[in-house]
Amino acid sequence: MKLEYLGHSVLLIETNQKTLIVDPFIKGNPQCPTSLSDLPKIDYVLVTHGHSDHLGDAIEISKKDGATVISNFEICEYLESKGVKTHPMHIGGNFNFDFGSVKLTPAFHGSSINEGDKMIYAGMPAGFLISSNGKKIYHAGDTGLTLEMQLLKDEAIDVAFLPIGGNFVMNVSDAIKATSFIMPKRVVPIHYNTWDIIKADAEKFKAKVEKLDVRCTIMKAGEWMEV
Ligand code: NI
Ligand code: MN
Repeated sequence: MKLEYLGHSVLLIETNQKTLIVDPFIKGNPQCPTSLSDLPKIDYVLVTHGHSDHLGDAIEISKKDGATVISNFEICEYLESKGVKTHPMHIGGNFNFDFGSVKLTPAFHGSSINEGDKMIYAGMPAGFLISSNGKKIYHAGDTGLTLEMQLLKDEAIDVAFLPIGGNFVMNVSDAIKATSFIMPKRVVPIHYNTWDIIKADAEKFKAKVEKLDVRCTIMKAGEWMEV
């Protein structure tokens, strides 16, 4: 599959069968090099949690392309009330879709949706394990370092996308420890340098994880890799 990083936590995934986007924060994302209208036609939108830098433009994309949103039950309930087609799941659950399988993994974080002056509960935040065409990728979502990540070692992950920006999520040293728990073939740092509050040194992260014998690719927004 082809993996294109669009900055912050946005990941575009093209499998042989379908096109997926994870955490589609396009409008207002200072790193995103593309506009909504320039995205390819999306079949599935995966949303890790309710915060606006992750839920992003999920509603508009799913309505424009008829895409199905895959997220936790609470976010799916909210989106269904807006007329969006969803596939609700929850932490630990796995489902086989037409492009491959998705499993929701725990993330230690918050999850809510702001609508006007209301704050809507958006369930537990999650990460995604996505398997397609014999490859497995992990998008951690927003999370602090957790011991649960040790369970991911058995998954033989090909590429792990881990937040490193600190403040709201793991910083570089915690993300290095997370990498040592997960031991993916390759790791890609995400969720950093979007704003000053999540500034991080990706080169330092790369140097340290490569000592663990994990390859690290620092992807600039708009770059892609084939897995
Ligand atoms: Ni968040
Ligand atoms: Mn975030």
